[in-house]
Amino acid sequence: MNVEYLESLALKSLQGYHINHVKMNIDGLSRLERNLHISLDERIRVIQEKFPQQKLIIAELGNFITTTIDEFNNIPNIIAFGIDLDHITINNKQDRKHLIRANIESMLEIPENTFHYIISHNCMEQTNLRKSLLEIYRILKPRGHADFDIASWYNYIPELIKNPVSPYMKVISMSNKFEGTLPQLFALIKEPRAGLEDVQRELVYLRFELDKP
Ligand SMILES: C[S@@+](CC[C@H](N)C(=O)[O-])C[C@H]1O[C@@H](n2cnc3c(N)ncnc32)[C@H](O)[C@@H]1O
Repeated sequence: MNVEYLESLALKSLQGYHINHVKMNIDGLSRLERNLHISLDERIRVIQEKFPQQKLIIAELGNFITTTIDEFNNIPNIIAFGIDLDHITINNKQDRKHLIRANIESMLEIPENTFHYIISHNCMEQTNLRKSLLEIYRILKPRGHADFDIASWYNYIPELIKNPVSPYMKVISMSNKFEGTLPQLFALIKEPRAGLEDVQRELVYLRFELDKP
């Protein structure tokens, strides 16, 4: 069974690994919602409608702080896994069976079509986007959904546009001045009167949604 396999994979991946405890004041899921400009209640409701009577299997990529996974797992009918090269805890509670230590660029032990929902904030730009976007697509279930942002996205234009996953990616600017496909965005930002100055700023985060057909 998928969940049992993932839980045993998590425990195996953490063998001999100490999760550091740090003192930090951070609000997990509400911070994700605020920074990604999404409502998780709404996301979960829509995905549950697509997969009725199923427990939703969720992954946060580059979660780092274990709190978000604890919070996800307190929501009924959800089993969430954090995937990161490094995990830290702020409450000393170490739910090791839901923390997978892996490189997002190559999550070979995670079967394809595993997760109903994938979320990631403040992480993708640290990875090789060509590899990690393909991996997100691979481990997402058909009809599954992913929300993630890419900081300094402007530096990765060739990688983003050439990525085999890009046709499935919707781009949404945080200011909501743009929503569309990557080619549409790149055509518009060349146009000085497009009113997209905020989107053009190099350090702006853009958020992406990926719907696997
Ligand atoms: C800036 S932190 C963001 C953590 C958390 N998402 C947040 O917003 O506070 C980036 C995280 O991505 C993880 N990370 C970066 N590259 C990774 C990779 N290739 N595979 C797995 N995790 C990676 C780092 O270990 C780190 O925990």
